[in-house]
Amino acid sequence: MRMESVEDYSIFNKIGGRGAVHLVVEQFYDKVMSDKILIPFFENADMQIQRGKMKAFLMMALGGPIKFTGKDLRHAHVHLVKAGLTDEHFDRVAVYLDDVLEQNGVTVELREIIASVVEQCREAVLDR
Ligand code: HEM
Repeated sequence: MRMESVEDYSIFNKIGGRGAVHLVVEQFYDKVMSDKILIPFFENADMQIQRGKMKAFLMMALGGPIKFTGKDLRHAHVHLVKAGLTDEHFDRVAVYLDDVLEQNGVTVELREIIASVVEQCREAVLDR
């Protein structure tokens, strides 16, 4: 059997597909939106878009059927960088995602792959 790849849907499927992602997204969203340091960045955001964003974020990180380019992520966050978004905020979001995955029984091996995908977004999100 070949290794899981972020290029296909295997991680996404392995954690349970859309149903699992939906549950994980709700928990991830709750954590992010309970963090006083992160809340200000979401204050002017449309709640519906935020949920969609979190879902997209996770689907992407799991290698699900969604694809973002660095340019899209840069464009989506550049106003936040101007408002003070830094590595500290990125790290908190990354930790919340990993926490939720861990709490839902996702293996260390899969979590490491997912974390590396999240890491690949850092420079674009922070407009560097
Ligand atoms: C791996 C890292 C990240 C990914 C893949 C990601 C993904 C996305 C995407 C795809 C959008 C655009 C959604 C749309 O179509 O409007 C978006 C918007 C946004 N993201 Fe992120 N994001 C990441 C990190 C962060 C971080 C660290 C923060 C702040 C702490 C953040 C806060 C926001 C906010 C506030 C919006 C705009 C929502 C709105 O204006 O309605 N994101 N993100």
